[in-house]
Amino acid sequence: MKLLAALFLAIPVIVLPATGTLADNPHQLFETRCGRCHDMHAGPFARKKLELKNGEAVSARSNNDIRRYLEWGHGKLTDAEISQIVLLFEEILRSDGLFAQKCAICHGRGYTFARNDLTYRDGKLVGRYSGRDINAFLAWHGRLESYEIATITGLFVRQLEYSDSK
Ligand code: HEC
Ligand code: HEC
Repeated sequence: MKLLAALFLAIPVIVLPATGTLADNPHQLFETRCGRCHDMHAGPFARKKLELKNGEAVSARSNNDIRRYLEWGHGKLTDAEISQIVLLFEEILRSDGLFAQKCAICHGRGYTFARNDLTYRDGKLVGRYSGRDINAFLAWHGRLESYEIATITGLFVRQLEYSDSK
């Protein structure tokens, strides 16, 4: 029993960013500087208005480079803020794409899945009913490459944040 406990403790715990730290940066930037004219949150905005072209966020309607658009002065952001927000858009679109490709066939819409089945407990993303540590679970579930796990858990964390703040 003692040995088991020791083994268990020896497994490195991957700590997700707490919800608070995410909202302190690009999300909050979007909400305070863009949200009053656009969608309140970056996720829904990116999904409706943007798409990835060669890995970069462009306007879905005009195909315009979003970075360039913001550099022209739309939204009055500094260069550092533009980089932050463009990276956020790209991360959102990438994680959506990954979920659509590898998970949606069984789990439906990511937003609904996250809200119904997942939650945060003690700073960790867990199954709402199963209590599972999701980060550990995804090491073998869903056929993700190891570098894709953080992209997907980031997606879930964002989706839980949106539902919390509604
Ligand atoms: C004062 C209102 C206002 C603010 C603040 C604002 N926008 Fe806009 N934005 C608009 C309007 C109006 C349009 C043009 C109509 C449209 O495409 O919805 C637009 C268009 C855009 C487009 C182009 C969409 C497309 O399909 O071509 C992007 C991208 C964009 N805004 C991003 C942002 C970002 C990021 C911020 C925050 C830094 C921001 N906007 C702040 C009003 C605003
Ligand atoms: C072939 C169908 C299938 C695919 C594809 C699939 N899943 Fe699942 N997933 C399931 C089933 C069935 C369960 C429930 C298993 C259980 O509870 O033992 C599950 C459980 C989960 C859970 C745990 C939920 C909980 O309450 O504990 C998470 C998180 C999850 N899947 C995420 C993903 C992600 C992310 C992907 C894509 C990378 C994915 N799944 C792909 C079928 C699938």
